[in-house]
Amino acid sequence: MIIIGFESSCDETGVAVVCTQRGLLAHALHSQIAMHREYGGVVPELASRDHIQRILPLTEATLQQAGISMDDIDAVAYTAGPGLAGALLVGASVAQAFAWARGLPAIPVHHLEGHLLSPLLAQPQPQFPFVALLVSGGHTQLMRVDGVGKYELLGETLDDAAGEAFDKTAKLMGLGYPGGPALSRLAAQGDASRYDLPRPLLHSHDLDFSFSGLKTAVLTRLKSLEKAGGALSDGQRADLAAGTEAAIVDVLAFKAIKAIKQTRLKRLVVAGGVGANRRLRARLVESMAALGGDVFFPPLEFCTDNGAMIAFAAAQRVNAGLVDLSDGSHAFTVRPRWDLQDVCV
Ligand code: KG4
Ligand code: ZN
Repeated sequence: MIIIGFESSCDETGVAVVCTQRGLLAHALHSQIAMHREYGGVVPELASRDHIQRILPLTEATLQQAGISMDDIDAVAYTAGPGLAGALLVGASVAQAFAWARGLPAIPVHHLEGHLLSPLLAQPQPQFPFVALLVSGGHTQLMRVDGVGKYELLGETLDDAAGEAFDKTAKLMGLGYPGGPALSRLAAQGDASRYDLPRPLLHSHDLDFSFSGLKTAVLTRLKSLEKAGGALSDGQRADLAAGTEAAIVDVLAFKAIKAIKQTRLKRLVVAGGVGANRRLRARLVESMAALGGDVFFPPLEFCTDNGAMIAFAAAQRVNAGLVDLSDGSHAFTVRPRWDLQDVCV
């Protein structure tokens, strides 16, 4: 069965075709980063309008790349939430119109389930069960994953997400949007031990996170450095970036390993945009090797938002028998806020 999938929950338009037997056949992506950069963050209305312009050309490009036509498509998947309402509506309405016009089933997909299953797009595939560290711009969660649709929340952020911590501290330091990649590039040239920053909730007894205090600590440090010596030197900026990245990575890695120890599982899977962070990757590889376990990451291109993970998650749900393919109703809604537990079995 061939499924086309649409992702438009935030600032990336993604389209992909996946075969339930053979896996990913083709995908295409347009990132709106350049468009939002001058505003310092995502402007929802601009995002929606841009999705409208990109989605059909990307669909044509994807079908062409896969060497198939619309006639070969058997089902249509789309991100139904969580995300920006207007942006979600673009993918949802295109997908539902496609499905209705061609008499195909439409499959709404939870964006986080897409991220969660995206490491299965790589080889070797992690086997279930595993612990997943889901670290995106909007979410920071530790999950126990026992199979498709079998997700148990072990811990999550009480305030800012890890990606948000990267983005907000990068903004304070005058770095571009999105902040994560910019901050980690600068951090690569810095000394993480020069400025000691807090590791919130590091020793709490649970698996929860909190990152909003880190942002305040960076702001306070920035102000005191500026007060003492005016504008920061390049070295100071790099050291502060390195200290910030180290603080975020320390907490994420510590809690992920704690979850591994608590669940006694041997496999850790990292997903979401922050999973692209090199320091985090290196730390988790080292820590899991020390425990005799394995860590899995999605291919870098599938860490941030993309259509492949949405079409793939739909295919996994079909293969697991979790989709009612006979449902011919094309009434739909999007869910800007949507608990992952709602798609659990
Ligand atoms: O998963 P994603 O593309 O979008 C959401 O669903 O939120 O994640 C985007 C987040 C942003 O906060 C971005 O700054 C962060 O992932 N990010 C990174 C890196 N690449 C992307 N954070 C740290 N280091 C990176 N290399
Ligand atoms: Zn995402």
